[in-house]
This record gives sequence, C-alpha cells and structure tokens, in this order.
Amino acid sequence: MRKILIAVIPGLLVAIVVLAAGAVLYIRTTGLAAQPDPGRLETRLARRLRALAVPAEIRTMANPVAASAEATAAGMRHFARYCSLCHGNDGAGTGTAYGRGFFPKVPDMRLADTQQLSDGELFYIIENGVRFTGMPAFGTGTADPQGETLVWQLIHFVRRLPTLGAGELAEMEALNPL
Ligand code: HEC
Repeated sequence: MRKILIAVIPGLLVAIVVLAAGAVLYIRTTGLAAQPDPGRLETRLARRLRALAVPAEIRTMANPVAASAEATAAGMRHFARYCSLCHGNDGAGTGTAYGRGFFPKVPDMRLADTQQLSDGELFYIIENGVRFTGMPAFGTGTADPQGETLVWQLIHFVRRLPTLGAGELAEMEALNPL
C-alpha cells in the first residue's frame, strides 16, 4: 500500500499543479467576462450535461394541460411578465438589455435546439432553473399547486414562439414590466 502511495503521489501533485495553472490561465485570459460567446464545443458539452441532469421519468412526461388557445394565451401573458426580460417577447433573446449579457447567452428559443427538447425537459428547466447560468428556477413546489399548471401553459407558449404574430407581440408589450 505504501509503495503504491509513493508511486502515485508525484503524479497527483503534477496533476494538481497543472490544473491550478490551467485555472489561473483561464481566469487571466478570459477575465471571467460574460460578454463573449462560449465556444461551440463548450455549448454542446453543457447541453449534454444539462440533458443528463433531467430524470428519465420527467423527460418523457407529456404536457398534462391540454393544448388550447386559452392555455397558450395564459402562457403568453406569463411569459411577457416573467420571461421576456431576458428572452424577449419573441423568444430570440437578442432584443433585451439582459438577453445578450449572460454567459452562456440566452438561446433563441424559436430554433430547433430548443424546440427539439421534450415537454418534460422544458418543464424541468423552467421549474429548476439551470445552475451556473442566468436561468432562474420558477418552481413553487408543493407550496402552490397552480405553479406547475402555469409552467405547463408556458410550455404551450414556448411551442408557439416560432410562429408568433405581430398582434400577439403587441399584446405582450403592454404586459412587459419594463
Ligand atoms: C434572468 C434571466 C432569465 C429569465 C428571467 C428567464 N430566463 Fe430562461 N434562460 C436564461 C438563460 C441565461 C438561459 C440559458 C441557460 C443554458 O444555457 O442552459 C435560459 C434558458 C432557458 C430555456 C432552455 C432553452 C434551451 O434551448 O436551452 C428555457 C426553456 C427557458 N429559459 C425558459 C424560460 C421561461 C419560460 C422563463 C420565464 C418563466 C424564463 N426562461 C426566464 C435566462 C433567463
């Protein structure tokens, strides 16, 4: 055992020094600034890891709120009040003071990367937020059973984002907090 430890310790020390040097280099070269876009590899990896965090039984959940014009409209009103600040009314994430300022950036939710997420994945993200990013958790847990219904209505609206019309955008503007 002692022999193994003696053989392993130098390698471990070198690894710690290399990791520490890498961390200092990362901090010095990036300045930990939020302005740049993360690299493509970093983005892919982060999305994979995020997908891994969603339990299978939630990923495969179907939206329990039936699709209807009312459900989408309720989601739209909620989105205008609580989400547009970062995501923009159109979901593009480019038209707001906050949207472009995050690292990672707010994604364009009209595009395939978001639309390909299952309803369950969207539910998990909105309920729990995404750690190490600017995406807050909106889940109210058991304190407010209505909260989950709101999230499922929001998901109906997220599905509507790619085909949003000028009338809906005007309606949302009237509800925006800022
Ligand atoms: C304070 C800013 C902020 C607010 C407010 C906010 N978001 Fe986000 N959201 C983010 C950021 C930043 C990301 C990117 C997270 C990541 O890269 O994993 C994100 C990611 C998401 C995603 C994942 C999309 C994808 O393709 O990765 C969904 C869905 C989402 N937000 C929905 C919402 C909804 C619905 C609301 C309102 C209830 C909301 N967000 C409010 C900042 C915000």
